[in-house]
Amino acid sequence: ARLVVLVSGSGSNLQALLDAAADPAYGARVVAGGGARAGIAGLDRAAAAGVPTFVDPVRAYPTREEWDAALTGHVAEHKPDLVISAGFLKLVGAAFLGAFGDRYINTHNSLLPAFPGMHGPRDALTYGVRVTGATLFFVDAGVDTGPIIAQVAVPVLPDDTEETLTERIKEAERRQLVESVGRLVREGWTITGRKVSIP
Ligand code: GRF
Repeated sequence: ARLVVLVSGSGSNLQALLDAAADPAYGARVVAGGGARAGIAGLDRAAAAGVPTFVDPVRAYPTREEWDAALTGHVAEHKPDLVISAGFLKLVGAAFLGAFGDRYINTHNSLLPAFPGMHGPRDALTYGVRVTGATLFFVDAGVDTGPIIAQVAVPVLPDDTEETLTERIKEAERRQLVESVGRLVREGWTITGRKVSIP
């Protein structure tokens, strides 16, 4: 299966997928990495693995809709079976969801529906929850609202800072992403309303 991975940050989730895909039994390979600005460390990781990359900065286009259409086109060129937002942190639009809405997944660093948005670990600490985690879900038109594929719980420890909690979540998040993407591509999936089934 063909994976296109969109990133904005360090790309540790992308790296985990690149590593897993080195084993042919995994059933998927990363065919392209994409981002929305130049100089993303995650895209250097893709390039280092010999994977082609593309960059579509929002402000390179007159409107958000034109950016969305261009991004959709660039992703489509790579004929993905699954598109993965791994810390992409950009809201895509109607064109993108029209093309990939049934195969566009995102990993978020909280147990949704708690703490959506940009600061999952910080918001969990501020609230004082004792357990948080990571959620993998199919993206819909909302912010972190789509049908859930998998969740993993991570404890919040008494001395946690935003940094230590963020790192603990990311370790569990990477394992979950690699495992779930492998299952999705090898076994397929159906989405019925909010329910995701993997046979
Ligand atoms: C992940 O924890 C994701 O949930 C958050 O950003 C992180 C991406 O990290 N939104 P990386 O770029 O894959 O290292």
